[in-house]
Amino acid sequence: MTDREAAVVTRSEAETAALGRFLGGRAEDGLFLALVGDLGTGKTHFVQGLAEGLGIEGAVTSPTFTIMNYYDGALPLKHFDFYRLDDADDLYNIGWEEYSAGGVVVCEWADRFPEVIPPEAVTVTLTALSETERRIVFTWTDAAPRSIVKEIQTYALGH
Ligand SMILES: Nc1ncnc2c1ncn2[C@@H]1O[C@H](COP(=O)(O)OP(=O)(O)OP(=O)(O)O)[C@@H](O)[C@H]1O
Ligand SMILES: [Mg+2]
Repeated sequence: MTDREAAVVTRSEAETAALGRFLGGRAEDGLFLALVGDLGTGKTHFVQGLAEGLGIEGAVTSPTFTIMNYYDGALPLKHFDFYRLDDADDLYNIGWEEYSAGGVVVCEWADRFPEVIPPEAVTVTLTALSETERRIVFTWTDAAPRSIVKEIQTYALGH
């Protein structure tokens, strides 16, 4: 494992949400999380926790018929889901340049349009190990915010 990677295994959807909550509570302006993982691996449950960590109340659901859901929290949370997006141009047409800057951005199915993901993004890859277990691997580059990287490493050490 390189120093640009950290992994945890969660054993329930609550544990995946708790991980999201931990990061939401420590997020700083400009955090970009690129979520990758097959259907039903827990991306939306992670985002639900992230929202809670940012003090956002109520259910978070994937933006199925809109490209983005916006939530007002300690920082604004912008939740994208690229699953039904056919063309990255649709993103630019709704103002991706503006929306993807500032606050906390989280994208499900980020690997569908890797060209729009900024270098500072932390990639979160979820894999189902069993019906209830998920491996969650974080990867980043030197452009990622140091503070959140430290938090991820700390969390991974304890889990
Ligand atoms: N450890 C776990 N973490 C998260 N979800 C889990 C876990 N174990 C089981 N699950 C189940 O897996 C499903 C995850 O659903 P979720 O909507 O979060 O996935 P998703 O990755 O967002 O899927 P989609 O690609 O369809 O948006 C839920 O039914 C949840 O109960
Ligand atoms: Mg989802």
